[in-house]
Amino acid sequence: MYSNGYILRFAATVTIICSILLASAATLLKPAQEENIQTDIKKNILRAVQLIEPDQKYAKKDILDMFAKRMSSVVVDPAGTVIPNLTADEVNADETDRLPIYLLKDANGAVTAYCFPISGKGLWSTVKGYLALDSDLNTVRGITFYSHGETPGLGGEISKDWFIENFVGKKILDTNGSLVGITIEKGKLRADTKGKEHKVDGISGATLTGKGINEFLMGDLERFNPYFTILRNKVHNEVIS
Ligand SMILES: Cc1cc2nc3c(=O)[nH]c(=O)nc-3n(C[C@H](O)[C@H](O)[C@H](O)COP(=O)(O)O)c2cc1C
Repeated sequence: MYSNGYILRFAATVTIICSILLASAATLLKPAQEENIQTDIKKNILRAVQLIEPDQKYAKKDILDMFAKRMSSVVVDPAGTVIPNLTADEVNADETDRLPIYLLKDANGAVTAYCFPISGKGLWSTVKGYLALDSDLNTVRGITFYSHGETPGLGGEISKDWFIENFVGKKILDTNGSLVGITIEKGKLRADTKGKEHKVDGISGATLTGKGINEFLMGDLERFNPYFTILRNKVHNEVIS
């Protein structure tokens, strides 16, 4: 028969050893976890600019190679001015004074898509993603939602292909060039829905998640629009001069 003191000492020793093992494992695995998160973010950016297919598997190396080869970046301030000598990897996606924008370039170095982070409250969680625009800075090239805690089957449908495909080809500007953004509707769009080019089908049972996305998507478009306006005016001036 063991004494109470022995049992307590034994339990304390086992607890301390397990704590040390767990803490060591967490510390050792942290760099690998962080690297995987960064690779997943890069994969989402590539998906938003339509460089990778939704239903195909990609090795980590392929993602990193493709990203390094095809994507570059700028960081702009809230007025849309490029901050020199700074790349998007050096700033956090949720910073308000330094806005990271990833650029997809073709073989001649011309920018064919602009991709930037979007994030905000859904219903239960903070939803994070990326939105990419074509070089006309109006047409949606693609969108991804890579991190959220919405209910699977309801709000969780936002990261499914059927939902994100809805956004492709939609326009963020009206015919006057004013920013109107993209709105997730309640239910399906009808043939006679007005302004369909700025709207996408809603998810049944997830109106509140959609409402949250509508709000932060517009906010993010407004945050990045000063830079896009500068670029649109530059192209316009080049065309008429
Ligand atoms: C367990 C549970 C999970 C829910 N998850 C979500 C969700 O992720 N997103 C959402 O907008 N609403 C969610 N709701 C709310 C309801 O789906 C929604 O308010 C209601 O059914 C209205 O349907 P509608 O969105 O089609 O208008 C949830 C409700 C329950 C009970």
